[in-house]
Amino acid sequence: MKKTYPVSRSGRFSREVGADVTQFTQSISFDCRLWRHDILGSMAHATMLRKIGVLSKKECAAIVRGLDGIAAEIKAGKFKWQAGLEDVHMNIEAELTKRVPAGAKLHTGRSRNDQVALDARLWLRDEITALLREIAGLQRALVSLGEKNFDVLIPGYTHLQRAQPVHFAHHLLAYVEMLERDCERLWDCHSRVNVCPLGSGAIAGSTLPIDRALVAKLLHFTDASGKVQLTQNSMDAVSDRDFVVEFCAAGALLAVHFSRLAEDVILWASAEFNFIKIGDAYTTGSSLMPQKKNPDIAELARGKSGRVIGNLVALLTLLKGLPMTYNRDLQEDKERLFDTADTVRATTRLLAAMLHHTKVNPAACAAAASDPALLATDLADYLVRKGMPFRQAHHVVGAVVALAEKSGKPLDKLTLAELQSVHKIFGRDALGVFDLKRAMAKRNLTGAPGTKEVAKQLARWRAQLS
Ligand code: ARG
Repeated sequence: MKKTYPVSRSGRFSREVGADVTQFTQSISFDCRLWRHDILGSMAHATMLRKIGVLSKKECAAIVRGLDGIAAEIKAGKFKWQAGLEDVHMNIEAELTKRVPAGAKLHTGRSRNDQVALDARLWLRDEITALLREIAGLQRALVSLGEKNFDVLIPGYTHLQRAQPVHFAHHLLAYVEMLERDCERLWDCHSRVNVCPLGSGAIAGSTLPIDRALVAKLLHFTDASGKVQLTQNSMDAVSDRDFVVEFCAAGALLAVHFSRLAEDVILWASAEFNFIKIGDAYTTGSSLMPQKKNPDIAELARGKSGRVIGNLVALLTLLKGLPMTYNRDLQEDKERLFDTADTVRATTRLLAAMLHHTKVNPAACAAAASDPALLATDLADYLVRKGMPFRQAHHVVGAVVALAEKSGKPLDKLTLAELQSVHKIFGRDALGVFDLKRAMAKRNLTGAPGTKEVAKQLARWRAQLS
């Protein structure tokens, strides 16, 4: 088989590198997935070279046709990637030049340093758009589960101890809010990804009259008002990976949110809570214990947050000691970036599918939510309405709770006489506090878990997500 040398070694170097060096330095095994964006970037660059007179009309058309042909082969899985050609940029350029002589002019005014920054930005721009769509799908799954079980109440927990009753939907909507902030962060990150670095060359731009704005326009590097977005410092442009860090940071927080949701799902699916049943297709069995139905998707969603957080730390560590400007270390950014993108995307999709196949157990939820102790604070509020300072009301209700415990009765089964033995202020209406439906009708502050407010929030999200 004929040996292939990267064009980057021609002229200057007398010996080819050893196979061990090729293996160590190659990135084609993972950056080949940038091919689509690499070709798009090359087409825009060729169009610009044509405009400034470096390429003739014919040469430009031949290059675009050649790149089209290569794209079709890659898509069909027929293209032969070669580790000897190091990376996606040189594999495509070498093949193009083999087919189209004018391909040798394509790298005019361009370096792999600005090319790889361009490819990563183009790739990530698409990835963010796709991820945002998937997150909206997960938000819709949460809203649907809430709507389907609108009447279900559960205890809300602090310290994993029963605190106050909430609509199950309210708990789910908490995650919808968290995910919305993730979307905002990703969209904000998108604005800094969406800046064109091409024309920065290896470090110092080019002496040729490259039309950077034209390339940027062709590749849609524009803001909401249509203004072209160009990097403003060639040294920064070729060494900047802040946009990768930002994405991975937003991804890490997203993964942490997934992990928390997963933990709730795992608790709810346990026999101890028994609030939900995950569909068979979204659970797995044990190889030993025949009765087991394990929430593995949720567990993996929780577990995978570890690698996504790790990717962020790896990137920050990678960048912290780099001198200006491009250093080959930067090649190590891609696997972390791809892994974060793939992991959060798959997790988003699987969590949504799992929630679509999750059923709520209304009886178990109702039993848990009917614990009258959940309304102890409502009893304190009752005393406040009667004019008692809250601190005193807190103390009095504490004594009522102690009395109930001592007499082995639930809070709502104490008699009026027993209540009045703690404080004479209690009236006949005091026990009405323990009517759960009425209690839920009272919680209607903005953002509160009351029936009316939760219905309003569900409707708002339904409209916003459709
Ligand atoms: N494969 C390289 C990377 O991922 C492309 C840029 C190489 N540039 C260079 N000067 N060797 O970063």
